[in-house]
Amino acid sequence: MVALTLASPAQTRRFARVLAQLLQPPALVTIEGDLGTGKTTLVRAFLRARGVRGAVTSPSFTLAQSYHGRHGETLHHLDLYRLSRGADVDLFAWDDYLGADAVTFVEWPAAGSEALPAADVKLELLHRTPRSRLVRLHASAAFERAAADGATAEGIEEGACAKEEPASAVLPGSS
Ligand SMILES: Nc1ncnc2c1ncn2[C@@H]1O[C@H](COP(=O)(O)OP(=O)(O)OP(=O)(O)O)[C@@H](O)[C@H]1O
Ligand SMILES: [Mg+2]
Repeated sequence: MVALTLASPAQTRRFARVLAQLLQPPALVTIEGDLGTGKTTLVRAFLRARGVRGAVTSPSFTLAQSYHGRHGETLHHLDLYRLSRGADVDLFAWDDYLGADAVTFVEWPAAGSEALPAADVKLELLHRTPRSRLVRLHASAAFERAAADGATAEGIEEGACAKEEPASAVLPGSS
């Protein structure tokens, strides 16, 4: 596991660009995290880094949006928040989003936990302060090392795995 502090939305986007350099199809990436932790911010920056132009909207209502990267690779963005367990889950065309040429991001993956294969990369985002987030990344040892190195090169600091500090304790100038 790698834990990193994303000190601002810009750092979250920078982290997404690191992932964009490392991820090749086929890949399944799940992103867990409470409302507003930056899941969509991260995926949008990933898509931009892979050459997606035009509107990138959150698939909160459509469940899925698909794009093509600059090398023709398929990029899927799923948000399963609204997908309840049961009939809807069975009706969803999971296989359409797991192609050999696809990188697939899944926000709120719990609803698909039985239908989806194990993720190649698992991300967990946590609130820290209004502007900063902690991301935990679980992947192969080689991928974790490459992601940590890439993040360091982008000025992203390793995050504390210890228990959360109160937000007020880590705000600049609060000490
Ligand atoms: N370090 C940070 N990284 C990402 N977003 C941040 C950060 N700090 C503040 N924000 C703000 O938090 C919000 C994150 O929104 P976003 O839609 O990306 O979250 P989400 O996790 O996809 O939410 P939802 O669960 O509703 O889909 C944005 O308004 C963004 O500007
Ligand atoms: Mg979202």
